Amino acid sequence: MAQGGPQKPDSGKVTTRTFRRMKQEGRKIAVLTAYDFPTARIMDQAGIDCILVGDSAGTVVAGHKNTLPITMDEMIFLCRAVMRGVERALVVGDMPFMSFQPSEEEAIKNAGRFLKEGGVQAVKLEGGSEIAPLIKKLVDYGIPVMGHIGLTPQSLNKFGGYLVMGKTERQQQYFLRSAQDLQDAGCFAIVLESMLPDLALEISESLKIPTIGIGAGVGCDGQVLVVSDMIGLFEEFRPRFVRAYANVADVIRKAVTSYIDDVKESRFPDKSESYG
Ligand code: KIV
Repeated sequence: MAQGGPQKPDSGKVTTRTFRRMKQEGRKIAVLTAYDFPTARIMDQAGIDCILVGDSAGTVVAGHKNTLPITMDEMIFLCRAVMRGVERALVVGDMPFMSFQPSEEEAIKNAGRFLKEGGVQAVKLEGGSEIAPLIKKLVDYGIPVMGHIGLTPQSLNKFGGYLVMGKTERQQQYFLRSAQDLQDAGCFAIVLESMLPDLALEISESLKIPTIGIGAGVGCDGQVLVVSDMIGLFEEFRPRFVRAYANVADVIRKAVTSYIDDVKESRFPDKSESYG
């Protein structure tokens, strides 16, 4: 672990190689999701290491009940907006439900779209050992892949809810095996979601590539949060693992209320806000 106060961001462009180096040097990796140009620009300027254009956009941007409905075209639109705001961070596009499951051919085509049309540098796929052969193919074709195990929200209907993972011996063995298989397949990092911290730590210590935790304790090599949770914008549901660093919903509410009052009372616009 690096010693001596806050860790400064690298000045150069973050790449998948930077991720591995950060793990070797014991430097934690800070990841956030983003879905639009202004937010991505602010995050990039603030020194975020990696931006994930997550399929969580389906819930926190589009208002769906879960991540399943979001489409490839919608994800590509969001990636393009984010990329216009980013100079330094590594940007990863999240492959939506049924964009890679139907066939290897479709998976390669859709992963390619993320890089060709979306402009991102890598893709993320949810799943364990069973998708390792597909991940190897994508990596062989020059598409860097971030893995994602533990709670995989695209399998919500299989799990029957958003559950904490790693409670049974069987699950623990599955996730330990999957992490190794994803590393062997060529993943440059793996997201561990909603997992008991001891298991996440064991996985992190067993791998050469970094783990990025969300609800998986402090033992991971980095952390990721959904930006709308982290800034206190999304109010429908807040998982226990979220830390809200701001209350943007309140800021917007107050601003909108003041604007409505000013319009109704003819206080807006004033002379300085009018031409002539
Ligand atoms: O879609 C998303 O935002 C994610 C993160 C929660 C890891 O997959």
